[in-house]
Amino acid sequence: AATVEHTFNVENVTVSKFCEKHVITAVNGTLPGPMIRVTEGDTLVVHVLNNSPYNVTIHWHGIFQLLSGWADGPSYITQCPIRPGHSYTYRFTITKQEGTLWWHAHFSLLRATVHGALIILPKSGRYPFPTPHKQFPIILGEWWNGNVIDMETQAEALGVPTNNSDAFTINGRPGDLYPCSKKHPYKLKVVHGKTYMLRIINAALNSQLFFKIANHKFTVVAVDASYTKPYITDVVVLAPGHTVDVLLTTDQTPGAYYMAARPYVSAQNAPPPDNTTTTGILMYDKLPYTSPIMPLLPALNDTPTAHKFYSSLTSLVGSPSWIPVPTKLDEQMLVTIGLSVSPCGPNATCRAVPNVPTLRLSANMNNASFQFPKSLSLLQAHFSNVKGIYTTDFPDQPPLKFDYTNPANSNNSALLFALKSTSVKQVKYNATVEIVFQDTTVIGAENHPMHLHGFNFHVVGQGFGNFDPVKDPKKYNLFNPVIRNTVAVPVGGWAAIRFRANNPGVWILHCHLDAHLPLGLATAFVVENGPTPSSTLPPPPPDLPQC
Ligand code: C2O
Repeated sequence: AATVEHTFNVENVTVSKFCEKHVITAVNGTLPGPMIRVTEGDTLVVHVLNNSPYNVTIHWHGIFQLLSGWADGPSYITQCPIRPGHSYTYRFTITKQEGTLWWHAHFSLLRATVHGALIILPKSGRYPFPTPHKQFPIILGEWWNGNVIDMETQAEALGVPTNNSDAFTINGRPGDLYPCSKKHPYKLKVVHGKTYMLRIINAALNSQLFFKIANHKFTVVAVDASYTKPYITDVVVLAPGHTVDVLLTTDQTPGAYYMAARPYVSAQNAPPPDNTTTTGILMYDKLPYTSPIMPLLPALNDTPTAHKFYSSLTSLVGSPSWIPVPTKLDEQMLVTIGLSVSPCGPNATCRAVPNVPTLRLSANMNNASFQFPKSLSLLQAHFSNVKGIYTTDFPDQPPLKFDYTNPANSNNSALLFALKSTSVKQVKYNATVEIVFQDTTVIGAENHPMHLHGFNFHVVGQGFGNFDPVKDPKKYNLFNPVIRNTVAVPVGGWAAIRFRANNPGVWILHCHLDAHLPLGLATAFVVENGPTPSSTLPPPPPDLPQC
């Protein structure tokens, strides 16, 4: 196995978009940032130099970080942020994962422009499918004309949600349907009669996305760096955080075909979304240029299409990235997820609820709205046994059992109000954990993509309405459930996941809609050390940033 080394210089740069100049924070001056390629088993070393005016951390989304929790990256969870003018070296080994992941900033909303692909090639040199002719990353993103740090600070002060994006992008480019953006859409040049692999990443902050290429079908072969049983579809759906690897055969009449993405909007009672479409062009070679054919994208609120895609995926049993499904459970949790309101705080001027300046918008899990610590990261507090940073009383069950998805109950004040706390769940090393996420309609139902750091999990079941603890487990797939790091919990529904806590450390579990993270839609798992050195978290590296 090799050591792959990179230097990330995080700095503000000026870019042109929509005939205007904008200052963004980026790595090595590019958007998307540098692509990293490793082979399974390699050690990755990334020196991050923060030359931007903001705090920053980098998270390696989906990487297990086995015994390397100090390199995971979420700010105030595994490290304090890297302050302007400072640096930190992330060092970790990549094991038992193959396919596409990505890296992104994990501070404020900087992920908008600080992100890139992380590709893990098979150690054997072989895929569990015919080797593609060529492969390309397709990074879907959101673009803001304004400064995203200011946007978050403002939303935080007013206790309201952050703004919609101004455009969607493919590999950093909005495409030719936007005004003042016609010149340089992303172009993918192909030859007829070959099979290509597209490594699709949803790096958008807040939008789930439908993705299609006119007249072409995809074969999904992996998601979240875990192989799937091949699944044929003409539309791919990705929540923020998701990655999907597809094979694309260029078997159509040589010509030009649009690839296009636009949002899947599940939220009820939400302000109007950005409903624009980003485009790129699939171009066959050797042909006179014709105007591209446009695919017919699903309607914005097409939940059946999103649900069909998410619930049809299964894992490829016995493949290198496969892990057995835990059947004997040590911990069983039912966790409600949803929006709520919380006290505004003494110095804020909240505008979330008309005429009620004492309340702000918040989000919660089991009625606890997560408050990030400020003086020490959770992992440092856990490692050095510092009291008073977090509590281990995160509830295994919702405080109130009721009809979570019947609108008649949506004013239930016991779930409408959530108090802020830094409450986590502590589990023994190697414990097997089941979590059933239950979406609530307390303020408005929405499909929340729940992301767990440090582990992949099996999605053993999902459905709409209230989870039925008697009937629903009978329908679980315990043979080949899809293996992911982010599950899009059906709107007004539930999803059941299982994982084995075989990685000591502190691992955040949160909604990957970035607007919901500062609102508190998070908690963390503290996984205790096991009995041997190979199940014990080593001490932090000497350059770990301090608060
Ligand atoms: Cu992709 Cu906690 O993040």
